[in-house]
Amino acid sequence: MFENQLKNEAFVAGESEKEPGAVTWQSPSNIAIVKYWGKHGNQLPNNPSVSFTLSAAHSVTRLEWIPKTGKGLRLRFRFEGREEPAFQAKIEKFLEQNIDILPFTEQFDLQIDSHNSFPHSSGIASSASSMSALVMCLLDMEQQIKKIPSPPDALRQKASWLSRLASGSAARSVYAVASLWGRTPSHSKSDDAWAVGLDDVHPVFKSYRDSILIIHAGTKAVSSRAGHALMEGNPFADVRYTQAHQHTTRLLKALQQGDIESFIQIAEAEALQLHALMMTSNPSFILLKPGTLAAIEKVREFRNSTAIPLSFTLDAGPNLHLLYPQDHESIVSEFIRRELLMYCEEGRWISDAVGNGPSRMP
Ligand code: PMV
Repeated sequence: MFENQLKNEAFVAGESEKEPGAVTWQSPSNIAIVKYWGKHGNQLPNNPSVSFTLSAAHSVTRLEWIPKTGKGLRLRFRFEGREEPAFQAKIEKFLEQNIDILPFTEQFDLQIDSHNSFPHSSGIASSASSMSALVMCLLDMEQQIKKIPSPPDALRQKASWLSRLASGSAARSVYAVASLWGRTPSHSKSDDAWAVGLDDVHPVFKSYRDSILIIHAGTKAVSSRAGHALMEGNPFADVRYTQAHQHTTRLLKALQQGDIESFIQIAEAEALQLHALMMTSNPSFILLKPGTLAAIEKVREFRNSTAIPLSFTLDAGPNLHLLYPQDHESIVSEFIRRELLMYCEEGRWISDAVGNGPSRMP
């Protein structure tokens, strides 16, 4: 098992290797087209999911380390320049739970500084970008101290595996363009424990746009952790998991072939199904806002009347992600300004696109 392999390979710095250092990584958020909703065991998904890696919505995280003596973790975390005890506790818990794999983190004082490119209260989930950026920093730290680089593929797999434990969907943020997380017979390398990057994506999707309409910027009424848990009693759970498998198989093919029509069908069915699952949970909850539905209607009208392949998806919240080929960027931007900004809180939207995954900063 991969976990045992990582435990066997776990690195502890020798006395002469205990030197101070620092590294900075930028890592993006991602938007799921086939959604992960429902999990079991230690952050394992109940169905496969497929996402686009984003670009503009990202976190930048700097990790500094100074040798220390004695056992136990010692870290300080700052978000946007300020101490954040809740985030710090989350990171400490993650490191403590994985100390068998990252034992060297106890040998140093750690200082972590993280920033998001998007406003904290924009309703954009930041755990995928922030946790994957942190994991990239930790693995880079390990390599710097060890002075023996790991092969890049093995490193990304380990990064995805560790990111998954920090925040499920973060597993998908470590690859360029698009990722698949969760076992499916349609991809021989797929796995529940880590995501794989999709190499064979048609050029039209490699430059796809995602314009994110901020319909409501507040924090979610129900956390995604609680939402995942409610899938256990959901009467539609089995049907949902079967459909997610079918959608994954069809989407992988559509992404390869550049089949935009199938992409639209799957993306919108998945978005609405995710929210239907929330509405049919017990207790039920609704994260959509009236503005979300009004904007969806406008998007469909626009598509029907112009034949421009504009589609939408939703995350676990009311904000609408508009997905479309780059060629239509100026006409869609004009449409957003003219007909959709009225549904956005303070007229806010984020212009994003499919991106290249995490990168190390100078
Ligand atoms: O990674 P989590 O536990 O926050 O769950 C994410 C769930 C969705 O964002 C709704 C869907 C997904 O696959 O990203």
